[in-house]
Amino acid sequence: MDIVLGLQWGDEGKGKFIDLISENYDITARFNGGSNAGHSIERNGQRITLKMIPSGIFMKNVLNVIGTGTVLDPISFKKEILNLKVFDGTIQPEKNIIISRKAHFVLPTHKLLDVFMEESPEYTTIGTTKNGIAQAYSNKILRQNLRVGDLFSPDFKNRVEQVMEREYRFIARENRELPSLEAITNEFFEAVEFLKQFNITETEIVLNKALSDGKTILGEGSQAAMLDIDHGTYPHVTSSSTTAAGACSGLGISPKKIGEIYGIAKAYCTRVGNGVFPTELFDELGNEIRIKGNEFGSNTGRPRRIGWLDLPALKYAVMINGVTQLVLTKADVLSGLKSVAVCTHYELEDGTIQSVSGILPETAKPILKWMNGWDADFSIIEEPTSLPQELIDFLSFLEEELEIPVTYLSTGPGREQILKMK
Ligand code: GDP
Ligand code: IMO
Ligand code: MG
Repeated sequence: MDIVLGLQWGDEGKGKFIDLISENYDITARFNGGSNAGHSIERNGQRITLKMIPSGIFMKNVLNVIGTGTVLDPISFKKEILNLKVFDGTIQPEKNIIISRKAHFVLPTHKLLDVFMEESPEYTTIGTTKNGIAQAYSNKILRQNLRVGDLFSPDFKNRVEQVMEREYRFIARENRELPSLEAITNEFFEAVEFLKQFNITETEIVLNKALSDGKTILGEGSQAAMLDIDHGTYPHVTSSSTTAAGACSGLGISPKKIGEIYGIAKAYCTRVGNGVFPTELFDELGNEIRIKGNEFGSNTGRPRRIGWLDLPALKYAVMINGVTQLVLTKADVLSGLKSVAVCTHYELEDGTIQSVSGILPETAKPILKWMNGWDADFSIIEEPTSLPQELIDFLSFLEEELEIPVTYLSTGPGREQILKMK
């Protein structure tokens, strides 16, 4: 199994890259997260954002797996499937998506709780996507949640109602304006009926059999290293394991079966939601990059925060994931700048220098290295040899610092806008 992972705070361009390389695989498998993801794919000038559907869906011969480590919101999933069919009427998702029996449900009350916790002064505001992700995962850890496979059990309806009533009561205490419990419960059960057209199965067995039969699997990560529940910038993280190790546990595949680990990073950094961001740009340049790079959340539409590339954080992400190949995106967005900066290390308050970090202390001062910028019309570059020297120098610098090769350079949002560097 090969794996594609985000190395920063998400939205690095995983969807685009997976859409492209999934044609080389038999299976694409999402291993973590839920509808908080937004993986954009552009095809024939049209754009779609996938939340739960794996990004190999456009390859007719690829089986797409929604794995055990994910949390599935049937209401959002139904909308996504219907939207996909409008986008491309030739796709038959019921035939080539299978869902793990052990994936957990996101219930409508999880979404209400997410909104409540984000808005209540009694809780730390994370800036979540309000998809009920933390609430579904925390119920899973509490062993109070329902799994997709539970829908076959005779007491499914009662159990859902019991959990939803309990959670609804908790929020209703706060005198909030809420949709009626009956309405959201009905909507949930309708969406569960819709889900029954899909093959809900022990995906671990399907995946491991496929590997024994010599088939190839691409693990699709959502979110990214710095949003990982253990290794990210806690508490401003998501609630799942976004790492290569998360791919193994989320899919039930042994670490011995991992081959290439593609880490995706932008040539700069972005972040949506709250949390530390040492290289953040608050000036006009940050705004220019936001507009040129169309840095508005694929999922929520929120403006993304912008900053220079953060090497200490990137080195940490490469280290914990064992990344073997770097895929760099969005260097085209920086084109035209006279100079670009990279944070090479942090200086801590006591003068200590840190060159690898997963903590990014709030008070750390980012030390920037300025490099010559590049200027090119990326729409006409078809060969790595046509890239401007300044960008080649930038890539060589990253390779030296990270000790891994940059094997792909994405030069625009389009499917064909990518250069294979090695
Ligand atoms: P994901 O969550 O990692 O799949 O990334 P998103 O889809 O949320 O955000 C990446 C955005 O950048 C999308 O709008 C992509 O179409 C776009 N994109 C991807 N690669 C490139 C690139 O190399 N250059 C530019 N300009 N846009 C890109
Ligand atoms: P993809 O897969 C960017 C962020 C949210 C928030 C934090 C917690 O498209 O890269 P959550 O809803 O997960 O409880 O929110 O994580 N976040 C993402 N940021 N890309 C994503 O996914 C994200 N998924 C969650 O903005 O800061
Ligand atoms: Mg995204």
